[in-house]
Amino acid sequence: MAAPSHPFGKEDLAIVEEHDSKAPKVSRRSFLKGMGTGLVGTAVLAGGEALKTREASTDTQPALIGPGETPITLKVNGQTHSLKVSPRVTLADALRNHLDLTGTKVVCDRGSCGGCTVLVDGKTAYSCMMLAVDAEGKEVTTVEGLARGSRLHPVQSAFIEHDALMCGFCTPGFIISVSSLLSRTPRPTLEQVKESVSGNVCRCGAYPNIFKAALAAAEKNRKEG
Ligand code: FES
Ligand code: FES
Repeated sequence: MAAPSHPFGKEDLAIVEEHDSKAPKVSRRSFLKGMGTGLVGTAVLAGGEALKTREASTDTQPALIGPGETPITLKVNGQTHSLKVSPRVTLADALRNHLDLTGTKVVCDRGSCGGCTVLVDGKTAYSCMMLAVDAEGKEVTTVEGLARGSRLHPVQSAFIEHDALMCGFCTPGFIISVSSLLSRTPRPTLEQVKESVSGNVCRCGAYPNIFKAALAAAEKNRKEG
């Protein structure tokens, strides 16, 4: 999977890079050679480690997933869900269309706006750029998972108090990115805040208040903690 082309923080890209490092390295030559046996073609279609079969026919020859729906288990916001998805379904679509978690927004659907940002194993990830089958075995957190019952996450409260949104389409992604920053860096500078949301785009231009809200949430954390 190619990394998003926009300025995205190094840590935020870790998941993509980690995934890339696990992807099978198939050269054009080895691909053509492998067509004879069908084995390399299988590896390409499977698309990487996370797509390895659940029904391996032998130890050496994995079976394919799909093209029909396949059962998967996703852990989202602390809850385990069993669902059936086509292997091409993205995590964003699985969250929105299979689990009714519509807080995650799909705006560009091509890894350039950050509207679909969620946490995967604690790191920010574009859910429109990740297959649902690749999220199996990982902890996914969406904006719905940040609040504790009726108590909003401090970043959510700060966005409301500082009027850090206009249309609100980008807001869940920004909130996830800022909450991720504060979990790692409780007292960020303005520059660190800006870097943490460098993979999120607000078409309404609410940036000044978004930055204020992020710093206010950090300040509140500092006073309370
Ligand atoms: S919808 Fe995923 S990055 Fe824009
Ligand atoms: S508030 Fe409208 S895109 Fe950010």
